[in-house]
Amino acid sequence: MPQPAKVVVEHVTKTFRRNDEELIVLDDLSLVVEPSEFVCVLGPSGCGKSTLLNMIGGFEVPSRGSLTIDGHPVRGPDPRRVFVFQEYGIFPWATVVDNIGLGLLRRPTAERERIVAHYVDLVGLKGFERSFPSELSGGMKQRVALARALAVAPDLVLMDEPLGALDSLTRLQMRAELLRIWKAERMTVMFVTHDVDESVQLADRVVVLSPRPSRIVDVVEVALPHPRDIGSPEYNRVKNRLYERLGVRHEI
Ligand SMILES: Nc1ncnc2c1ncn2[C@@H]1O[C@H](COP(=O)(O)OP(=O)(O)OP(=O)(O)O)[C@@H](O)[C@H]1O
Ligand SMILES: [Mg+2]
Repeated sequence: MPQPAKVVVEHVTKTFRRNDEELIVLDDLSLVVEPSEFVCVLGPSGCGKSTLLNMIGGFEVPSRGSLTIDGHPVRGPDPRRVFVFQEYGIFPWATVVDNIGLGLLRRPTAERERIVAHYVDLVGLKGFERSFPSELSGGMKQRVALARALAVAPDLVLMDEPLGALDSLTRLQMRAELLRIWKAERMTVMFVTHDVDESVQLADRVVVLSPRPSRIVDVVEVALPHPRDIGSPEYNRVKNRLYERLGVRHEI
C-alpha cells in the first residue's frame, strides 16, 4: 500500500477582516508534502508563512479550500503535530529536563526519564539536565525547545523561523544538528524561513511565496546530498533561482 501524503493543501485561501476590509493573505495555495520530507517555506515578511503553518497546525481555519494530514481533514490542534517557534517558548522556572518532559507528564516516571534522557543526548545537552534556561545560551535554549517538541514523538514538526533569534554561527551549527536529528527520527518537517541560504542548506524542496496576496511562485527541488557544499555550482544555481523568484537581484 502506498503511504498517503503527509500534508495536502488544496486551493487554500485565507482572508482576515481588517477595518471593514478583507485582507487576502493566502490566495489559492496548493501543496503536497510527503512523509519524512523536509520542506522549507520561503517568502517575504508578512506574506502569510506563519498563517499557513498555523492552519496546518489547526490553530487557524482556511477561508476556502481544504487541508488534510494523513488523509484526514485538519479539525484542530493535535499533539502529534508540534510547533517550534523563534522565541523558544520554554519555561524559565523549569530545568532542562522538566522543560523537555513537559509533554510526557502522563507517562510513567521511568518511561518519561528514559525518553527525556534520549533527547537530552540527541540535542547535545548532556551535563545541563538540571540547568535553568537563564543559565543557557540562546542556542542551548533552542535545543531545549527542539527536544521538548521531539520528545512527544510527533510525526509532523512545524517550525516557524526557529533559528531566527540565534547568531549566525550558532544558526549554522543548529542547522547541521537539525539535519542530523531529522535523519535519525525521519519526521516530516515544514520549516518557515526568510533566509535563502537556510532553505538551500536544509530543504528537500523549497516553496517560494510571493508578497501578499500570496501565491506559490515556485517549488524548487534541492537534490543535493548533505552536508551541502555551499561552493558548488549546483548549490549556487538553486540559490540564484530562489533570489530571482523572490524578485531580488543577487549577484555573486
Ligand atoms: N489573526 C489575524 N488577524 C488579522 N490579520 C492577521 C492575523 N494573523 C495574521 N494577519 C495578517 O496576515 C498577514 C500575514 O501574516 P503572517 O504572520 O502569516 O506573515 P509572515 O509571512 O509569517 O510574516 P513574517 O515573515 O514577518 O513572520 C499580515 O499582514 C498580518 O497582519
Ligand atoms: Mg511569521
